[in-house]
Amino acid sequence: MTRASDSVALLDSDMAAKNLSGYWSLGMEGLPPEPMTAIEPCLWKWSDVHESLVRAGGVISLENSERRVVRLVNPGLDRRHGFATHTLQISFQYVKPGENARAHRHTPAALRFVIEGNGAYTTVNGQQCVMEPGDLILTPKLTWHDHSNNSKQPMIWLDGLDFPLITALHQVMQERYPDRRQPIERTSEEVMSHLGSAIRHGVPLEDVFHYKWRDTEPVLRALTQNRSRRNPFDGYLLEYRSPLDGGPTMKTIGCAVQLLPPGERTETHRHTSTVIYHAFRGSGATQIADRCFEWEQGDSFVVPLWYRHCHLNRSASDEAILFSMSDAPVLKALDLYREEDASH
Ligand SMILES: [Fe+2]
Ligand SMILES: [Fe+2]
Repeated sequence: MTRASDSVALLDSDMAAKNLSGYWSLGMEGLPPEPMTAIEPCLWKWSDVHESLVRAGGVISLENSERRVVRLVNPGLDRRHGFATHTLQISFQYVKPGENARAHRHTPAALRFVIEGNGAYTTVNGQQCVMEPGDLILTPKLTWHDHSNNSKQPMIWLDGLDFPLITALHQVMQERYPDRRQPIERTSEEVMSHLGSAIRHGVPLEDVFHYKWRDTEPVLRALTQNRSRRNPFDGYLLEYRSPLDGGPTMKTIGCAVQLLPPGERTETHRHTSTVIYHAFRGSGATQIADRCFEWEQGDSFVVPLWYRHCHLNRSASDEAILFSMSDAPVLKALDLYREEDASH
């Protein structure tokens, strides 16, 4: 039915009342020629994060807060969510001597990368993982986990979660374990020492949650002995792999460490995955589009999707090591991963 006095405005308002919308309101611009993101390149200084953690240690109790966690917030996103990117969250957790962060499980998958302290432990599905700097500990989706610090010093680690992605999928839920701590049934050392025979005997490998730095570091260093192993865009890059299928550490998060030797300057590229970096050792700089972010040990930064970037280690004597986590596994699963050499 066409009305003599009809107009676009009238049609739009009539349609809105019926929960309808005209595509014409988008005009003729169409879709962007390249992927676009609201995520901003951003760097967080360790001094700011650390000061906030220590102050939180004075005013936040684990009796009143499920976790004592400082989240890194991307200024391009709605700050209320506390997300660093649209897919991944990075935060830092502070557990004082004698404290216990109670046991729970949730649909968002999480990882811990240990920054400071020694001897606290995370229990994952009954497996005790004693934490030392550089260790990576996984708490995949719906695994029970709690953290206890029986050492004499505070413990700090990086938390990485796929919280924004799971939020976007409307899948967020959490359950509390009936007790504050779950019983310890075995240690990660036992699981790792039995790994060889477990593989031979076909024992499920879902229970590999712990990657010790003392195992990771020699492999990373061995890479640097062979120039042909150098990745032009990342220096010497070691990806953590699932022993289950050789795939990424978790379905939604890929983790890696990379070593930039003194004087390293990588070539420029870009990809449709977004990467969160943490400077574990040394210092350097990362050029992201037209901005250069100088980082030193403890700093964290985000390289948003499709931004051109390269890494520099300006030191003539010291190496730099970056820990990173990326949403590349998700993009690859959806066949949306794309990478482009942008150095020319
Ligand atoms: Fe948790
Ligand atoms: Fe990259």
